Amino acid sequence: MCGIVGYAGGRSALDVVLTGLKRLEYRGYDSAGVAVLADGGLAAAKKAGKLANLDKELADRPLPAGTTGIGHTRWATHGAPTDTNAHPHLDNAGRVAVVHNGIIENFAALRAELAKRGHTLASETDTEVVGHLLAENFSSCGDLAEAMRQVCRRLEGAFTLVAVHADAPDVVVGARRNSPLVVGIGEDEAFLASDVAAFISYTREAVELGQDQVVELRRDGVTVTGFDGAPGEVRTYHVDWDASAAEKGGYDYFMLKEIAEQPKAVADTLLGRVDESGVLSLDEVRIEDSVLREATKVVIVACGTAFHAGMIAKYAIEHWTRIPCEVELASEFRYRDPILDPRTLVVAISQSGETMDTLMAVRHAREQGAKVLAVCNTNGSTIPRESDAVLYTHAGPEVAVASTKAFLTQLVACYLLALYLGQVRGTQWGDEIRAVVRELAAIGTQVEQVLGTMEPVRELARSLAEKNTVLFLGRHVGYPVALEGALKLKELAYMHAEGFAAGELKHGPIALIEEGVPVVVVVPSPRGRSVLHDKIVSNIQEIRARGALTIVIAEDGDETVVPYADHLVRIPRTPTLLQPMVSTVPLQVFACELATARGNEVDQPRNLAKSVTVE
Ligand code: F6R
Repeated sequence: MCGIVGYAGGRSALDVVLTGLKRLEYRGYDSAGVAVLADGGLAAAKKAGKLANLDKELADRPLPAGTTGIGHTRWATHGAPTDTNAHPHLDNAGRVAVVHNGIIENFAALRAELAKRGHTLASETDTEVVGHLLAENFSSCGDLAEAMRQVCRRLEGAFTLVAVHADAPDVVVGARRNSPLVVGIGEDEAFLASDVAAFISYTREAVELGQDQVVELRRDGVTVTGFDGAPGEVRTYHVDWDASAAEKGGYDYFMLKEIAEQPKAVADTLLGRVDESGVLSLDEVRIEDSVLREATKVVIVACGTAFHAGMIAKYAIEHWTRIPCEVELASEFRYRDPILDPRTLVVAISQSGETMDTLMAVRHAREQGAKVLAVCNTNGSTIPRESDAVLYTHAGPEVAVASTKAFLTQLVACYLLALYLGQVRGTQWGDEIRAVVRELAAIGTQVEQVLGTMEPVRELARSLAEKNTVLFLGRHVGYPVALEGALKLKELAYMHAEGFAAGELKHGPIALIEEGVPVVVVVPSPRGRSVLHDKIVSNIQEIRARGALTIVIAEDGDETVVPYADHLVRIPRTPTLLQPMVSTVPLQVFACELATARGNEVDQPRNLAKSVTVE
């Protein structure tokens, strides 16, 4: 939520900052702005709307050249997405510029205080107060990092701030509480950004910033302190993402590229996790086996697509380990006084590792004494750092707002975790583990097969562009898949879409079925649990009898569904528990194509942002 970039070095700051903002636009695209220190002063430009609007503004009114600068791409919280509310925000003298991600909860009191002291605040944002406070504090201490520390001690809420001051040339200062900020260290240059993707084409050496830390960035290095001024520990790490992974690579959208990357993402997440004798070793799981053995309950917390991965994980965890597993929306979790104790294992699933709802659930769980294991795709992000242990997914950078490859890798990680729990508790043995891992390893090829047969799905999607509603049905692990299909369609195609457990139809939702309503049905394998399969075949007949246009996703060789399918989408045979890894893929393609057919922006759907760092 909001993307931030800062640069101090020898290159054109504007070029570096704009390149970084392009990479971060997925975090918010309501407005964008930049500020550069040049000729002893500060020059800024900002514009409502996408980055392209700012590019145009800069072409019409170029900024002077400078080698120190900051930039911002916004997801609006306080104040509409207008030019005035766009970041950076300046003080009245125009000497300080600040950009911000997060929410400053006590901004109203600070604003009133500043107004009393004669400041004029132009915007409706919570951010602007920071620019004014920084200017005041800098004028008394003459040191931008110290001024930032003084200001941060007065702020309540979650924030990342990055600022420059015309009287502190060559310096960029950043501060972090609860929102992401990483430092990049290059040769004779340094970077600040919400995400390493912003500077990965310049350097792979990064520094994690901790909670309540301020960083002073100069071309010859960085100094990290706490908000209290105490020296901060600097932990560096190497980013192994390829710079090209953050580019579209010939695809029209990041989403299409990320859908296509799923076989590799699955394989990478499996890599090196099981030895020849079927023993799983999850290196990053740092919770002692004795604690995992004693766990009486697993509670999964997550949001959105990650929550759907958690719903599927429940089936695997309970089936393979016989430990009760609850799945809860992270945004609801801490408000209902959940029952947790040191024998509860909380699993927090998050692609970004920065989702505020999930982070707050993690904190709440740890306060209650539970052990927390993060399943995360972003090295060095807040959720894994605040958890007892982490199991990283290796999907690589996911840029499209709609999650695809991260979801599949979350499933892999959850299956591995379930097997690992089974291993330490003795409910799963080498042979069984090896067999499941083999099945998981085959999924990549199966996803490729599905991707190779998607033209009819795309054609179908285009033919439904004028519809108002699409419904999704599933049973067992197909139920969360139905929810995920509906979520993708809502967020990308802006259509009414709902997912139901097929057995619930007759308890109400069947009233929604009328002539021509498209209903996507995810059919479980007829092998294995054939009762489940037979029940859903009856459900298909029930809705078809009432006029639904049935779009049936069924395994190769399942002929029983053929008479009732207006459109049949084939997926390869997979074990029931793993089927979501292939059945989700056509739904991703379907949503992407429908969004395109309706003229929507696939990678940047309206009102959304990739990383939701506010509650
Ligand atoms: C939907 C989507 C979101 C995220 C959710 C959690 O396509 O991407 O629903 O899954 O915001 O984000 P993370 O996984 O970063 O915590």
